[in-house]
Amino acid sequence: MAKKFYITTPIYYPSAKLHIGHAYCTTIADTIARYKRMMGVETYFLTGTDEHGEKIQKNAEAAGKSPKEFVDEIVAGIKDLWTSLEISNDDYIRTTDERHEKVVQEVFTRLLNQGDIYLGNYEGWYCTPCESFWTDTQAGEEKICPDCGRPVHKAKEEAYFFKMSKYSNKLLEYYNSNLDFITPESRKNEMVNNFIKPGLEDLCVSRTTFSWGVPVRENPRHVVYVWLDALFNYVSALGFLSEDETKYNKFWGEDTQILHLVGNDITRFHVIYWPIFLMALGMRLPDKVFVHGLLMMKDGKMSKSKGNVVSPVPLIEKYGLDAVRYYLVREVVFGSDGTFTPEQFVERVNIDLANDFGNLLSRTVSMISKYFGGAIPEYVGCKNEFDEDLERQARHSIEQYEKNMESLHVTEAFVEVFNYISRANKYIEETKPWALAKDETKQEELKSVMNHLANALRQSAIMLQPVLLKAPKELFAQLGVEEELQQYSSLGKVDAMGGQIVNKGNPLFPRLDANVEIEYIKSLMGGNK
Ligand code: MSP
Repeated sequence: MAKKFYITTPIYYPSAKLHIGHAYCTTIADTIARYKRMMGVETYFLTGTDEHGEKIQKNAEAAGKSPKEFVDEIVAGIKDLWTSLEISNDDYIRTTDERHEKVVQEVFTRLLNQGDIYLGNYEGWYCTPCESFWTDTQAGEEKICPDCGRPVHKAKEEAYFFKMSKYSNKLLEYYNSNLDFITPESRKNEMVNNFIKPGLEDLCVSRTTFSWGVPVRENPRHVVYVWLDALFNYVSALGFLSEDETKYNKFWGEDTQILHLVGNDITRFHVIYWPIFLMALGMRLPDKVFVHGLLMMKDGKMSKSKGNVVSPVPLIEKYGLDAVRYYLVREVVFGSDGTFTPEQFVERVNIDLANDFGNLLSRTVSMISKYFGGAIPEYVGCKNEFDEDLERQARHSIEQYEKNMESLHVTEAFVEVFNYISRANKYIEETKPWALAKDETKQEELKSVMNHLANALRQSAIMLQPVLLKAPKELFAQLGVEEELQQYSSLGKVDAMGGQIVNKGNPLFPRLDANVEIEYIKSLMGGNK
């Protein structure tokens, strides 16, 4: 395991308020970062905003504001959103930060001086919303953008170009010697077949038709192409080319594992252009670009114009932070697309969190209070095959949890924890503590059951900590779990519980009235709240 870990989300466009789809990527990144920290890995977690470009300039004009005023307001809202989701990012980079703009200019100069960037003319099909030029073939007969499907228009301008083709063999070599650089693998085949094999075209890296961008120092009529600008956030945030490069040397160094999370809409930029820019500058490449799926709505992609966006904020206000974070991580298998439905949201809360997890705690605390006056009995080993089976499940779940988290099967990791929780519920039905309590000769077995249940809850809560930020703490308080036994390092301990005094508290997750709440969530789906 690498000693250090650097994880990033895409930097989002502050062109409108973010929705639950953006929250999806950031929450998963946060969950991974929290997991790594819990494992004792020195972790740096970055998110931010991509603030330049024609679209932002136009939106600002439409709103009657200067671009900077416009983005400042939206960025403040985005930061509030991350605060309400308790995102644990170590820094927030804005491409309008001076520290970032300086890097972009310097990088451009270096690439120009070494001959990778040259001045030419661009003629092609331009997609304004995506800020991308396309060739005749790419725009197809219908002349639509291959990324977003909207119409493109013919445009010609003097522009700087980057010699992409010079690096395509080197890029393929990198793919071949780093087989999991692009994950899932299907995404790699898509990139190789659609973009690299047909021959990489030189990339246009400057614009003259608008001014909201980083000016090219050598020719200020040009602003740097928004993607060349944006991608360098991953290193400018670390202090690359600044007076103090300590953080950069640390987290962009060879012994750091570097992971970019991206949606499929931006794979090409991260697995082709970004590594090529880095190669050209003689810098190290990231270890992995993980392409996650989209959170969709029943009627397709979420979009403001369709009026089908959902904001996570009212969901957090009504159902709590843990319910929203858990839903995001659990419902949409990381790496695949998924659909947001109010029914599934309520079901996840009611079945997984309230019934399986919350109830297990309430039942356990009640039984310990009733049968042992609130003191958790000491560990007495395994008394029968049920105890043995539960311990076996614990070892299996812990192993699978770690394996899945390390390989970024994030959803599967938490499914595994819930398998353990379900197993513990079943264990109550199998061991029937209420019957044991009536039989004088079964007291040792009863103690064993209570001890095993308390430990199963403790272990589950430890593993759930990267995603649930409130419930594990509440659980530790109700079971009287001391600080040291809340740590990951004590996870495998079978005899951790015994002697603690339970404190009955509120249910971890109150059951929702499904019909009422489904209607309420539907009312949020215009994205107006
Ligand atoms: N600014 C660029 C990224 C530059 S990174 C150097 C951009 N911004 S964006 O605001 O459009 O954000 C795109 C990213 O947001 C996607 O790649 C994805 O990670 C996330 N998502 C946006 N909508 C989403 C869903 N509906 N579902 C899941 N993730 C979503 O592209």
